Amino acid sequence: MFLSDTVNLVIEDGVGVIRVNNPPVNALSHSVRSGILAGLEQANANPDISAIVIGCDGNTFIAGADIKEFGQMPKTPHLPDVLQAIRNSVKPVTAALHGTVLGGGFELALSCHYRVAMIGTKVGLPEVNLGLIPGASGTQLLPRYVGVEKALSMITSGKMVSTDSLTDLIDMKVDDGRLGQASSPLPEHASLVNQASILFSQSTANDVFVAPDKRDIPDSFEENIFESWRKKLAQKAKGQLAPQRAIDAIEATTKLPFNEALALERTLFLACRDSEQSSAMRYAFFAEKQAASGHAKSTSSDDIQSVAVIGAGTMGAGIAIAFANSGYSVTLVETNEDLCVLGLERIRHQYQKMYDQGRVSEAQKEHALSLISGTSDYGNLANIDLVVEAAFEKMSVKKIIFSSLDAVCKPSTIFATNTSYLDIDEIATSTTRPEQVIGMHFFSPANVMKLVEVVKTRSTSEQAVSAVMKTAKRLGKVPVCVGVGFGFVGNRMYAAYGREANMLLLEGASPEQIDSAMESWGMAMGPLAVNDMSGIDIAYKARREYPPIYDDPAYFLAADTMVEHGRLGRKTGVGFYRYENGKKTNDPTTMALIAIEAERLGIEARRISDEEIQNRLVLALVNEGANLLEKGIARNSEDIDTIWLNGYGFPRFRGGPMYYAKATGINNTIESINYLYRETNKAWWQPSEKLETI
Ligand code: 3HC
Repeated sequence: MFLSDTVNLVIEDGVGVIRVNNPPVNALSHSVRSGILAGLEQANANPDISAIVIGCDGNTFIAGADIKEFGQMPKTPHLPDVLQAIRNSVKPVTAALHGTVLGGGFELALSCHYRVAMIGTKVGLPEVNLGLIPGASGTQLLPRYVGVEKALSMITSGKMVSTDSLTDLIDMKVDDGRLGQASSPLPEHASLVNQASILFSQSTANDVFVAPDKRDIPDSFEENIFESWRKKLAQKAKGQLAPQRAIDAIEATTKLPFNEALALERTLFLACRDSEQSSAMRYAFFAEKQAASGHAKSTSSDDIQSVAVIGAGTMGAGIAIAFANSGYSVTLVETNEDLCVLGLERIRHQYQKMYDQGRVSEAQKEHALSLISGTSDYGNLANIDLVVEAAFEKMSVKKIIFSSLDAVCKPSTIFATNTSYLDIDEIATSTTRPEQVIGMHFFSPANVMKLVEVVKTRSTSEQAVSAVMKTAKRLGKVPVCVGVGFGFVGNRMYAAYGREANMLLLEGASPEQIDSAMESWGMAMGPLAVNDMSGIDIAYKARREYPPIYDDPAYFLAADTMVEHGRLGRKTGVGFYRYENGKKTNDPTTMALIAIEAERLGIEARRISDEEIQNRLVLALVNEGANLLEKGIARNSEDIDTIWLNGYGFPRFRGGPMYYAKATGINNTIESINYLYRETNKAWWQPSEKLETI
C-alpha cells in the first residue's frame, strides 16, 4: 500500500513493513516523513499487525534529513513529531539497518524499540560537519545506549562508527549467510536485513518493550566531563558553535526531564540551523559534490587497476602509500636499484609509524606493503594503466621521463605529473599522446591530505580527466579539475596570500601577530609557521628560476631576506621563528632583519590591527581567485572553495574564500579591494573584472 511517493506499507507474516524508497540516500524529505507517519498510524490501527519494521531499499538506510530542504519553508510533519510517534507506538518498532545510517536516519533508528543491522553497517551523527547539532533526539537518546562519554565523542566529532562495535545498540546482527535458509531468494542487502527484522519482530512482538526515552543513562561519567569537553573543543574545533551547543544538549539530558531536555535540543538545533556557520558548511557540502561532478562519465574500460609512481622521495612515497592503502598494486620507479631499495625502506618506515600510532593494523600494513614493488627498469611499465610522476621539479628531467614512458607504455596508459608549478602542456609535447597527459597534484603528506588538483591541459581528453577523477575519489581524495597556469589554483592563490603576509611584515606586523590573527580567524595554521615548516627556500628558488608573477621590489622581500640569511625554516632551526628542541619561539632578529629592508624601501613601520591582517589576507585570496576564474584556470567559485577547504586548512564554517566574499557582501569586498588598489598602487590589487560575478 502506497503511503506517499517514497514510502509503502506491506504486511508480511503479521509484521507491518514500512519501506522507504527515496534514492540516492533515502533522505528524510517531506514525502518520507509523512509516509512513515502514515505507516505508523495505519500499522498501529490494523489488528492484523502485531509489530512494525522500518527499512529501506537501495544501498543504505536513511542517511539523514534532506539537506536540500533546509533553505525552504519547513512542512509538517516535522521530524521530531515523526520520531515521537515511533517512540510512542503501542506496537514495537524495529529498524532494519544497512549502509550508512546518519543524522536524522540514526535518530530514527534510536527512536525505535529494536535495531537489527547488517554486519558492517555504520552509524553516525555528522550534523556538526554541517554546523548543526542533531535536532530530533540524537543528543538525548544516544547517551542512553552508549553512555555519555561515547555520545560526546560521536556527536562532537561527527564521525561514523561501525555497529559491529556497538553491542548495546544493536539487538541482532545479520550476515549474508545467516538467513540463507530462512527465505529465498534474498537478492539484496536491504531485503536480507528487512527479512531478519521481520523474523526478529515476530519473535519479540509479545515481549514487554521499553520506549527508548525511558531507558536510563549509564552514570559512569566524571562529574566535570562537560567542562573538560568544552575546553577541549574550544581548541580542537576552534571558533565553531555547533560542537559547544551539542555538549549543552547532552548535558541537559543528564540533568533535566526528557521532554524539557528534548525541547532545549530543538531550540539549540534551530539556532544552529539559522546560523551563518551552518549556511557556510551546508554550502561547502554541496560545493564539494559539485566540484567532483560535471565531467564525462567514465566507463569500466578506463578503470585504473595498476599504477606506477616515478620518484621515491617524500612525495612519491606518500603517493605510493595513498594508492596501496586503497588496494592498488603500485610499482615504485627509481633511477637505480639502490634508490629503489631506499624508497621501499622509506615506505616501510612510514607504515611502521602508522602502525605504532594505531592508524593501521598489522594485517593492513603487511597487505599494503605486499602491493608495492620497486624497479629501475622502465621496461617493466609496459602494462601499467596510470603513471604518476613525482620526480625532480625540472622541466628537462620531466621531459626525459615522459618520452621514455611514451616509448614503453601501452597506448592507453595515462601519464600524470605531480608537478606543483611546471607547464604541463610543455611536458606533454615530449610524448606522442598529449591527450593522455594530465596533472595529478597531490598535497604533502600525500597519503593524508584530501585535496588533489587534477590538471587538464589544452590537449587532455575528457576520458583521461574522468578516469583520473574517479581514481582520485577511490583513493578517498577530493579531486578538483583545474587548468594549466603557474601554481594552478591552490598554490597560485597561496602565493597571493603569502605575498600579503610578507607586505604586512614589511609594514611592521610580526610573524606571531600575523599567524595568531589568522589562526584566531579560523585558519588551521598561520602562513609564516606554514612557510617555516615547508621551507622558505622552495618558493625562493622557484621565484628565481621563473620570472616572478610581479616585478616589485617589495614582492616576497621578507621571505627572501630570511633565505639570504640562511634562515630556511624548521630544517635550519630558524626561519621566521626559532626552533629549539622542536619548540617554536619568537626571534627578535627576524623583525630586525626585515626592518632594514623596509627602511631601504622607505616603508614606515606602524601599528597594524588583527582585523586589517585578516581582511588583507582574505581579500588577496578573493582577488586572485577571481583572476583565476577570469583566465579560465578555475571553473567556478565552488571549485576554488573546495580546494581551499581541503588543501589549505581554510575554516569550513566560513565556507571558503569565495563564499565568504559573497556572504559578507560582494559590493563591500569590491570596495575594499578598490581601496587597497588606490592606497597602495600595487598591480596585484587591481580588482579582477570577474569579482562581480564570482
Ligand atoms: N540530503 C540530501 N541529499 C543528500 C544527503 C542528504 N542528507 N546526503 C547525500 N545526499 C546526496 C548528495 O548530494 C549526492 O547527490 P548527487 O548525486 O546529486 O550529487 C547523493 O546524495 C550521493 O551522495 P554522495 O555522492 O556523498 O555519496 P557517497 O556514497 O559518497 O556518500 C553519504 C553517501 C555517506 C550518505 C554522504 O552523502 C553523506 O555523508 N551525506 C550527508 C549525511 C548527513 O550529513 N546527514 C545529516 C543531515 S542533517 C540531519 O540529519 C539533521 C537532523 O539531526 C535533524
